[in-house]
Amino acid sequence: MSPTILAIESSCDDTSAAIIKDGNILANIVATQAVHEKYGGVVPELASRAHEQNIIPVVTQALLTANIIKSELNAVAFTRGPGLLGALLVGCSFAKAFALGLNLPLIEVNHMQAHILAHFIDDPKPNFPFLCLTVSGGHTQIVLVKNYLDMEILGQTTDDAVGEAFDKSAKLLGLPYPGGPMLDKLAQQGNPEAYTFPIVNMPGYDFSFSGIKTSILNFLKNNSAENPNFIPQHLNDICASIQRALILTLMKKLVAAAKDTGIKEIAIAGGVSANSGLRQTITEYAKRYNWRTYIPAFEYCTDNAAMIAMAAHFKYLQKDFSNQYASPEPRLKF
Ligand code: KG4
Ligand code: ZN
Repeated sequence: MSPTILAIESSCDDTSAAIIKDGNILANIVATQAVHEKYGGVVPELASRAHEQNIIPVVTQALLTANIIKSELNAVAFTRGPGLLGALLVGCSFAKAFALGLNLPLIEVNHMQAHILAHFIDDPKPNFPFLCLTVSGGHTQIVLVKNYLDMEILGQTTDDAVGEAFDKSAKLLGLPYPGGPMLDKLAQQGNPEAYTFPIVNMPGYDFSFSGIKTSILNFLKNNSAENPNFIPQHLNDICASIQRALILTLMKKLVAAAKDTGIKEIAIAGGVSANSGLRQTITEYAKRYNWRTYIPAFEYCTDNAAMIAMAAHFKYLQKDFSNQYASPEPRLKF
């Protein structure tokens, strides 16, 4: 059976709907919420309201783009978690009502697994087992991917996510939200070795980003006290140096996990995998360590429903359906 599935993503500040047919993405519509810009970060209540407004237009557009009518659908999928409760509730409630109205099975998807499964949308596809460095605004994980739906977290952050470290550093530099992409852009014109920030070494394959955040804060405070124009005068170099420290922190553990497991199939996923420095570094390390690396297309790095659809496709094939009591789970684990 080759299913046609409508998938909904609403875990944070992107409302997205996608259609997948026979494992091929026919539409992937994303409405990014601009409302958070003036607050310098995602405001959960505003995110829920924006999802509520966006969800019907986004789903309608996905069906139109895919040229699929509702009666052709075989299932409805949604992000169960992790994410913001109110935001998840909108997607979950919509999916349940839609599935109930059309008498279709419901499929719940883990957002972090979906980021990884985005690698099965386009070619080349990784071979099992592979390691995936999953880096987003809420998570930083090294995942051993044994099969489509069989994954094990080998290590993860014990405090902030690396995306959060990018965003908070950008905020300290006075850059607009979301800061990660802006910091990346400025870093491309800077010298990554201009300043040194600590690379924290946690036990095993775990990460910590709270210390580096504090050291960046102190560094900026001290230098700005001496020269009030320090940040604008050295912005590109500061961005490049922060980015370098964050990337080296990630790479240190990824190299260790690859070495210890003997796995040479290495993927990156999640919003921070759009970072140009990380993409370049992973390509350099591939040569150095003889890895085969997999980097998602930009559109599948940050949040999107195509990845939810891809995960739902594999769950459909296993007849892994949810019932009408399915509920959001903000802290969903694997
Ligand atoms: O996966 P995602 O869209 O949402 C979550 O699941 O969290 O990731 C968003 C995160 C944000 O922290 C954003 O700043 C970061 O990904 N991000 C980047 C870049 N593009 C997105 N960070 C650094 N460089 C980028 N180019
Ligand atoms: Zn995400």
